[in-house]
Amino acid sequence: MPSHDPTQPADVPRAGTSPAHSSPVGAPAGPSPADHPRADHPRAGHGLAAALGIAEPLINAPMAGAAGGLLAAAVSAAGGLGMLGVGGGASDDWLHEQADLAAGVGRPWGAGFMAWVLADSLDPLRAVLEHRPSLVCVSFGEPGPAAALARDAGALTAMQVGSAAELRRALEPDIDVVVCRGGEGGGHGRDEVATLPLLQLALDATDKPVVAAGGIATARGVAAVIAAGAQAAWVGTRFAACAESLSHPRAKDAIAAAGTDDTVYTRAFDIAQGIPWPAEFGGRALRNAFSRRWAADYEGLADALNADPSLSAAIEEARSSGDTSLAPVYAGQSAGMSPGHETAADIVAELAGFRALLASAAERWPAGR
Ligand SMILES: Cc1cc2nc3c(=O)[nH]c(=O)nc-3n(C[C@H](O)[C@H](O)[C@H](O)COP(=O)(O)O)c2cc1C
Repeated sequence: MPSHDPTQPADVPRAGTSPAHSSPVGAPAGPSPADHPRADHPRAGHGLAAALGIAEPLINAPMAGAAGGLLAAAVSAAGGLGMLGVGGGASDDWLHEQADLAAGVGRPWGAGFMAWVLADSLDPLRAVLEHRPSLVCVSFGEPGPAAALARDAGALTAMQVGSAAELRRALEPDIDVVVCRGGEGGGHGRDEVATLPLLQLALDATDKPVVAAGGIATARGVAAVIAAGAQAAWVGTRFAACAESLSHPRAKDAIAAAGTDDTVYTRAFDIAQGIPWPAEFGGRALRNAFSRRWAADYEGLADALNADPSLSAAIEEARSSGDTSLAPVYAGQSAGMSPGHETAADIVAELAGFRALLASAAERWPAGR
């Protein structure tokens, strides 16, 4: 069990403070201490949503290649927290353009980065911070230097955790929000622990706001994690397939057609493309012809790449042409609950139905019975 000293004040955002609305987050002059979104304050009922200034406890996962400014803006406009996903190789122009779009609706928004990418240079984070995100998530590696920079700019910091060891890291004081990301989730992460065990572990271990991620795609999923004590749900796959996602239309079709059993967790796509993800982070993607052949045979794949290095370029080509038999379509088990091509606003409105589910559960199980 991760250690936590409950006698220490929880490092929880102050309820009723919206960084994007009431404090100059990331403003050139810097936020004044009074405006800063973090403060020593006991856990408030709706702490994180209130601190972020969002109406719905819903966050679209930052997804490189899917969550650009258009998606982030649509989710924020609908009352959730829209997030940009920043991967490796994003140009400065692209970052400013997408961050402008996200910030353009005048609502709180955020961005997610890969720690192992930022280890080379913090410049992509610096570029995004110029646009004053309210939340900066740094996952997949050591988040320290990026978290310090984000906090200096007045943003709240988050880290996705996929194991008890990662949870211990996120309980350090530089991380404000713990995102429990189970192995059923889409895209990169760990495949060690599922969402519910992680969520229960984290909620028992900390007074920091905890957000649940992985396998949540319906109002039922949102209700489950909110009832357990999560302060928000972090939804990836369903948004990856929606109208505003940057994903290839054929990738969206493939997610829409996939069932819950149709995903595989593998490093094969990264190995084939020469993407230097740390080995502990594979990715969950839809099964396709490529992964059926190589997902369980990395040595054979390395031999095949030595014999025919053009495989890497072929995958790149398949990604741009939308050949989903060869290209990775990163998606989680919730693909089976993701109809695809809906608007982000419709998804947020549907997920907001979690309230009716909580009310009906409370009616079925009144206290004291
Ligand atoms: C297409 C796709 C791309 C992703 N890219 C990123 C990323 O760039 N950064 C990140 O922190 N997480 C990324 N993730 C993981 C998500 O943040 C989140 O953990 C996951 O989507 C949650 O599970 P779900 O897909 O079942 O909702 C990605 C997920 C998907 C589906």
